[in-house]
Amino acid sequence: MKNLSFPGLPRVLIVDDEEGVRDGLRALLQQEGLHVETAGTAEDGLRRIEARSFDVVFLDLNLPGADGHSMIGKFRVGTLPADVLVLTGYGIVAKAVESMREGASDVIEKPFSRDRILATVRRVLEARQLKHELAGLQDRVRELTSTELVGLSSGIQEVRTRIGQVAHAPDTTVLITGQSGSGKELVARCIHEQSDRRHGPFVAVNCAALTEALLEAELFGYEPGAFTGASRQGKDGLFAVASGGALFLDEIGQMDSSLQAKLLRVLQDRVFRRVGGVHDVPVDVRIIASTNQDLRQMVQVGRFREDLFYRLNVMAVQVPPLRSRAEDVPLLSHCFLDQIGRQMGKAISGFTEEAMETLTEYSWPGNVRELRNVIEHACIVCPIGMIDEAHLPKFTGGTLDGSDEIDRTSLVLEGQDRSIRALESQLVAKVLEDTDWNISRAASILGINRTTLYNKIRAYELGQRPLRSKVMV
Ligand SMILES: Nc1ncnc2c1ncn2[C@@H]1O[C@H](COP(=O)(O)OP(=O)(O)OP(=O)(O)O)[C@@H](O)[C@H]1O
Ligand SMILES: [Mg+2]
Repeated sequence: MKNLSFPGLPRVLIVDDEEGVRDGLRALLQQEGLHVETAGTAEDGLRRIEARSFDVVFLDLNLPGADGHSMIGKFRVGTLPADVLVLTGYGIVAKAVESMREGASDVIEKPFSRDRILATVRRVLEARQLKHELAGLQDRVRELTSTELVGLSSGIQEVRTRIGQVAHAPDTTVLITGQSGSGKELVARCIHEQSDRRHGPFVAVNCAALTEALLEAELFGYEPGAFTGASRQGKDGLFAVASGGALFLDEIGQMDSSLQAKLLRVLQDRVFRRVGGVHDVPVDVRIIASTNQDLRQMVQVGRFREDLFYRLNVMAVQVPPLRSRAEDVPLLSHCFLDQIGRQMGKAISGFTEEAMETLTEYSWPGNVRELRNVIEHACIVCPIGMIDEAHLPKFTGGTLDGSDEIDRTSLVLEGQDRSIRALESQLVAKVLEDTDWNISRAASILGINRTTLYNKIRAYELGQRPLRSKVMV
C-alpha cells in the first residue's frame, strides 16, 4: 500500500471457511505488499493470532462450530490488538451493530468489491500508523522527562536513600550540592516526584541567569506598574506558579545578598510580597536549592548569608562526582546508548571492551552530562554494530583533569644504562605509577595512544597491570 510508513510489513489474517473468499482476498492484499495468512477455521485462526500479532483480521462470523459475535473479542488481544473486519451476508444490519459493539472496526457485506476492501484496509492501517507514531512520541516524552536515577555504586545508593528520606518530609527545604553535571537537578526532580507534592508543579529557576531585579520579579511577581516596563495587569511570580509543588532554585550561590534576605523571609515566615505590593502572600511551596559552590566557605568570606545557609541546609544531599563512582559508568553508558540510539533509530548493540575501558578510566570533569554528550557523539559517528574507541571523541582519552595531582618530581635514572630506551622505560613506569595505572590518563600524559602504551609496557616488561574491579552490563 502506498504512502504508509509502517514498522515492518502490515500483517493480515483471513479467517473464512470459504476457500474462494480466502484465496481472493489473499491475492488482492498480497498484490498490495501486505503479509497475508489464512485460516479455514476459528480454531486455526486463534492459534495463529496467539503465535504472532496481526494488524488486521478479516473474520467470517458464520464459521462452523464458532459462536458468532463473541469471536470478535478473542481476536482482539495484545497491547495493540488487531483491527477486526467482519465479513457477513448481505443486508444483515443487526449483525453490523452487534459486531461494532463487540469491537469490530468495520463490517463488510459479501459479496464485496475490490475497492471496498482496499479502502477499508487502508483506512484501518492509517489509523494504526498514527497509533504507532503516538506511542513512539509518548515513549520519547517519557524518556526526556525521565527521572530515573541510574547507578548501583554505593555513592548513588546513598543519594537514593537520602531522596527517600526527604521525599517523606514534603515541606522541608533541601540543599543539593555537587559538581556541575553530576545530576543535581535530576535528584531534585526525584525528590519532588516521590513526595506527596508530586501532583503539584516542579518549577526550576536558574539564579545565575537573571539580574537581581529580574530575578526578584520572576520569583515574587509584581503589582501593576511596579516598575518601568511592568505590565499593567501585574504578574504572578514563580512562588505563586509553583504553589502546591516545588521551586528549584538552581545555582543559589549566585543569588544577590538583598534577594538572599528576601528568600530568608519566605523560609522563615512562609509569606512573600510581590514587587511593589503591600500585602503578604502565603507560600505553599517546597524549596529545593542547589549549588556547585562551597556555600560554607562563601559564608566564611561573607559572600553568602549564614542564617540563609542554615535555613536551606535543613536536609543536605550530596551528589558524588562521577569520577568517584566509576563503576556506574558502564550502566549509565548503556542507558544513554539505549535512549539515544532509539531516538536516532540506530541499531547499535553496545561497546567494545576497549571503548568501555576508556570510558571507565576517564576522569569525567563534566560528570554525567559529559558522559551523555560523549555517548551522543559516539552514536552519531558509529554507523552500526558496536561503539569502539575510534567513535569516542578525542578528549576522552586525552585531556584529563586532576593532572595537578601528578607527581612532577624529576626522574633519577637508576642503574648504569644511560640509553634513551632506559630513560623511556623508566618514564613510562613512573607515569603509570603516578596515574595508578590509568592507561588512558598515562597515555595522554606521555603523548602517545593507548595501543602504543600497551606495546611499551610489553616491550619494557613493566609487569602486569593491577586488576581492577569492573562492572559488566
Ligand atoms: N544518575 C543519573 N542517571 C541518569 N541520568 C543522569 C544521572 N545523573 C545525571 N544524569 C543526566 O545528566 C545530565 C545532567 O544532569 P543535571 O542537569 O541534573 O546536572 P546538574 O548537577 O544539575 O548540572 P549543573 O550543575 O550543570 O546544572 C541530565 O541529562 C541528567 O538527566
Ligand atoms: Mg543543574
